[in-house]
Amino acid sequence: MAFFLAIANRKGGVGKSTVAVMLAHALSVHGGKRVLVIDLDSQCNASLILMGGQGWNEARKSGRSIADYFYDLFDGIPANARDYVAKNVGDVSAANGKPAPVALVPGSLLLEDIQGELYLKQANQSNIADVVANRVRGRMESLIRRFEGDFDIVILDCAPGLSFAALAALKTADKVIVPFRPDYVSQLAVDRVALLIEDTRNLDDLAAIPMSERRYACIANYVRNDDRDYLMIEEISLVHPVLETFLPQRNGIADAFDYVGAPRSIDAKYGDAAGDVKELHDEVARMIAATRKEKVGA
Ligand SMILES: Nc1ncnc2c1ncn2[C@@H]1O[C@H](COP(=O)(O)OP(=O)(O)OP(=O)(O)O)[C@@H](O)[C@H]1O
Ligand SMILES: [Mg+2]
Repeated sequence: MAFFLAIANRKGGVGKSTVAVMLAHALSVHGGKRVLVIDLDSQCNASLILMGGQGWNEARKSGRSIADYFYDLFDGIPANARDYVAKNVGDVSAANGKPAPVALVPGSLLLEDIQGELYLKQANQSNIADVVANRVRGRMESLIRRFEGDFDIVILDCAPGLSFAALAALKTADKVIVPFRPDYVSQLAVDRVALLIEDTRNLDDLAAIPMSERRYACIANYVRNDDRDYLMIEEISLVHPVLETFLPQRNGIADAFDYVGAPRSIDAKYGDAAGDVKELHDEVARMIAATRKEKVGA
């Protein structure tokens, strides 16, 4: 059974797609896992990082995007989830020199429009807004789960904000990783997404859930070598679980956003951030193993 890892924050530009793709490469190369990335953002950044513009255009023109998948299967058309998966994407090679086995359900500019259409379809069956919204989210959740058969880890790169797809991803996830920048605006955003993930009304209710039992972990990104940043991370750690690994601002991370085509080693791809990638991998792999163990024991 696959482990579902959502990368989410209601705030934009905090490094969600960067962390999603970094973890996909690392879990595949360092961890030897079969990884699928599902691009749930109509900006399609994860798809562009993993396929480049040309590859992504070809995928969406041939009707193999997440929007096509939701649209085609929403009413129970018996299409196969596998038909929407692009295999061996990315520009990182495995130890054997072949492309790392990372797969992708490509994103689509139409994802938002399609969510509106699916809502209207459901609205024919009920006029209670909450019921309709829950049905759309629930249906998306079950469609996302259909990918689990062929993979060890499914990474869900969420759009900022609260789309149905993002809500479905948060419900599906065994664990949510919340990247944040160490500043006050980010702290508020982390609070809000944490309340949503844990289904709690306020921070007092959230505090009643032990950190070790939370379904999310935050990661500080874009960290400058500055006391104010470290202090902010400490403050957020008082309220939320925060990974020990943090990501500094690095050229290697910014450059990794660009797809170069020919596969190279993960260390070459991430340059001055190769050590950060390995460290993040090791901590997240431990977290996944511990969460799986709890689930089996439950
Ligand atoms: N640690 C870092 N060092 C340098 N650049 C970074 C770092 N983290 C992210 N970036 C850059 O910041 C920009 C935003 O990152 P990214 O697109 O991953 O954020 P996001 O949260 O997915 O944004 P959105 O909400 O728009 O989906 C990108 O250009 C990325 O290359
Ligand atoms: Mg993004």
